Amino acid sequence: MARYFKKMVGTKCYLSPVNPDDFEKYTEWLNDPEISQNLLVNDKIFSLLKEKEILEDMAKNNDTTFTIVDVNTDKPLGNCSLNNVDNINQTATLGIFIGDKEYLSKGYGTEAMELLLDYGFNALNLQNIMLEVFDYNKRAIKAYEKVGCKVIGKRRQAKFFNNKRYDIIFMDILKDEFLNIRE
Ligand SMILES: CC(C)(COP(=O)(O)OP(=O)(O)OC[C@H]1O[C@@H](n2cnc3c(N)ncnc32)[C@H](O)[C@@H]1OP(=O)(O)O)[C@@H](O)C(=O)NCCC(=O)NCCS
Repeated sequence: MARYFKKMVGTKCYLSPVNPDDFEKYTEWLNDPEISQNLLVNDKIFSLLKEKEILEDMAKNNDTTFTIVDVNTDKPLGNCSLNNVDNINQTATLGIFIGDKEYLSKGYGTEAMELLLDYGFNALNLQNIMLEVFDYNKRAIKAYEKVGCKVIGKRRQAKFFNNKRYDIIFMDILKDEFLNIRE
């Protein structure tokens, strides 16, 4: 039986509905400091049981969370989601991580973002998608800029990490900006 489904397909990866059977993989990813230090949930501890429940809940109740899968091997490599979808104001926030470190800095994150934004703007008809990123996460900021996101402000010293304080950068992208860049 297939575990992943090609809901949005690129040249390197595709976005599939979350499969709760991946809870062991997700638990490994989310407890890896190299990955989690960049995530809003970095101070949380994810047990196997907790992650199983989270994925089951996502799979049942959340239509806008996806596992990122290698298009050539069907290997899951990360997760991305649109959150806080507001159909009246047509806004959402975006989150993404690559959990399998073999896939970092090889363009998979940028392509997954493209697929997710395409879904958000062209399928869900959103107008504005926003994200938060820690000031020290230069790779993510670069990837977000590559897909057309712009810095709209920063919340100063709002991130505590390794006994230091960092700014949280806010970035967003409009539907027209996304479509115009790709015409
Ligand atoms: C952020 C993330 C999704 C980006 O995906 P990715 O596949 O690793 O990134 P890409 O290869 O698509 O693009 C990264 C870009 O940043 C550049 N880069 C890498 N390290 C960098 C650094 N330290 N400083 C500046 N730029 C950097 C790369 O060269 C690349 O740009 P290029 O294509 O012009 O060469 C991924 O790195 C990730 O999941 N990291 C861990 C969790 C995380 O940070 N999530 C985001 C939370 S806001």
